[in-house]
Amino acid sequence: MARRKKIYEGKAKILYEGPEPGTIVQYFKDDATAYNAEKKAVIEGKGALNNRLSEYFMTGLQAIGIPTHFIKRLNMREQLVRQVEIIPLEVIVRNYAAGSMAKRLGLEEGTQLPRPIVEFSYKDDLLGDPLVPEEYIIAFGWASQQDLDDIVSIALRVNDFMSGVMHGVGIRLIDFKIEIGRIWENEFQRLVVADEISPDSCRLWDIETKQRLDKDVFRRDLGNLADAYTEVARRLGVLPAAATHATKPTLIN
Ligand code: TMP
Repeated sequence: MARRKKIYEGKAKILYEGPEPGTIVQYFKDDATAYNAEKKAVIEGKGALNNRLSEYFMTGLQAIGIPTHFIKRLNMREQLVRQVEIIPLEVIVRNYAAGSMAKRLGLEEGTQLPRPIVEFSYKDDLLGDPLVPEEYIIAFGWASQQDLDDIVSIALRVNDFMSGVMHGVGIRLIDFKIEIGRIWENEFQRLVVADEISPDSCRLWDIETKQRLDKDVFRRDLGNLADAYTEVARRLGVLPAAATHATKPTLIN
């Protein structure tokens, strides 16, 4: 069999050329990184969990008419997606203060915001993904004003969907990050949700106990990351029959 061509390797995923033109195979690694890759570990089972969870969220978004790059899951660690031109922005939606916003404004983590707030970071690892105002985005040509209006509208729809799904299983969606891609159809472009949506890119707190069920478990050494992601997958009913993260052999009667 011919070896497939690697297009890009990031911190948590590898992209390979897909079987058809305009498609890509997205491989989810077990690698976890934080603080711009200053902290690193391999978390067994994370890739498979994020593959399943991202499939679940992307297909859910498509079902309510929000376009995404997702085509289908191929196996435990890989999914087939549309090739897109990634807009170099991290689109962040916040419902409650946490992380960098809590620090910047001196707010207690978990403080409810007056309304969902959308903000943008410029995707550049060397610069540490700096927060950028819309003015920069337009002036530097990363996206047009029309793109930004569409991106904010998509981000808020994703927020409504994700908040509702999570609320249904006793989880508060504190904040999340998405990436947006362009798909060109002749001279027309369509914006779609791309990359992944998983507990790597969201903050998820148990509503009752405030237990963290997201990558903060790794960032802040709060316990076992795969256990936290498994709990999210279990509540959503997306865990495959065979455990993704088996720590003990399972007894079969
Ligand atoms: P922050 O509080 O560190 O700015 O992060 C806000 C949310 O966005 C949080 O859920 C983590 C997510 N995020 C990423 O997934 N990748 C990134 O590069 C950044 C800046 C944030």
